[in-house]
Amino acid sequence: MWSSTKSKLFLIMPLFDVYPIQDITIVKAKGSRVWDQQGQEYLDLYGGHAVISIGHSHPHWVERIKTQLDKIAFYSNSIRIPLQQELATKLGTLAGKPNYQLFLCNSGAEANENALKLASFYTGRKKIIAFTKAFHGRTSLAVAVTDNKNIIAPVNETENVIFLPFNDVAALTECFQKQGKEIAAVITEGIQGVGGIQVADDSFLQAIRLLCTQYGAIYIADSVQCGYGRSGKFFSHDYAGVQADIYSMAKGMGNGFPVAGILITPQIPAKHFQLGTTFGGNHLACAAALAVLEVMEAENLMDNALNMGSWLMEQLNQFPQPQNVRGRGLMLGFDVPDTLPDLKKSLLTRQHIFTGEAKPNVIRLLPSLTLTQADAAQFISSLQQEIQSSPN
Ligand SMILES: Cc1ncc(COP(=O)(O)O)c(C=O)c1O
Repeated sequence: MWSSTKSKLFLIMPLFDVYPIQDITIVKAKGSRVWDQQGQEYLDLYGGHAVISIGHSHPHWVERIKTQLDKIAFYSNSIRIPLQQELATKLGTLAGKPNYQLFLCNSGAEANENALKLASFYTGRKKIIAFTKAFHGRTSLAVAVTDNKNIIAPVNETENVIFLPFNDVAALTECFQKQGKEIAAVITEGIQGVGGIQVADDSFLQAIRLLCTQYGAIYIADSVQCGYGRSGKFFSHDYAGVQADIYSMAKGMGNGFPVAGILITPQIPAKHFQLGTTFGGNHLACAAALAVLEVMEAENLMDNALNMGSWLMEQLNQFPQPQNVRGRGLMLGFDVPDTLPDLKKSLLTRQHIFTGEAKPNVIRLLPSLTLTQADAAQFISSLQQEIQSSPN
């Protein structure tokens, strides 16, 4: 594409077009609200894909990043970075896992990649169990354990991954009975996000724990989307009353600043050079992640997620049409009926509300954990209007 100024004609370099996008440019954001170039305000129940945890541009988060930027933004992991220790301690306390070890990296896929690699190093085994509709990221091992053939490149194909039906304890037990001694890890989300908000049964997670312990495999709790307080508990896996060996975290961890990590059971010892990263755990990322935890604690955001989530679920269940309302806390989904095929689009264009989706027909709500009663009520009344104005 060519563009011109008064004197020059120049080429606009194209972006690699990997997603279909909305024709909206957001220029300002605050709490659960965003504004486009024309000044139109939107209610954001999508949070840039479950990333906005403490609200857009939270003043404490902005201040902590700015203050850190004035001191030092980055130095590599070859020196002491006390902010990492501060973050580990705060995270361990809030997550209720004070004896776990923290490894920091930059994205959800990278967190899962490191978790899987560590499980294989530790057990000396190669096979991984993953589940139908799972999404764990787009890098080599993370995508290999993702149940979507369209995003697995030929080079990522491997015989080391066994896919089993989600929430099927019998299939899992049978698999372990047949080849338990070869299994390095079982990886699962506590609530499948991309898979359409499917909640893992407590009994399923308990079976994973039991079988992993029995056969010496590692239980990896992918908490990239369902973790960090979104479900109303720090990790959605906590609802099952079991401890995973490794928890992967990303999205809500930095409230938009790229930071991710894995929490690792004390039983897995660290060995120099097995894992590593250039950018992971840099000063700015730690400051952003600390700000998130400080706000979560000060504003009781896990309680708010639980309360607002219960209220929304109660309201949604009163509608005759959106069906199968499901999820936990502020990670909710429902099936859009055939009579309202364009519901997500009309919520955006007519009601000015961002929501998420999962193919083929699920609306996902992944708002900031600071969502207020007024925000939630606005959504319910907008949804009501859209249902009533539907020609069907
Ligand atoms: C459950 C889960 N795991 C991993 C990922 C990958 O995270 P990232 O896009 O930061 O690599 C995602 C992203 O949507 C996710 O939902």
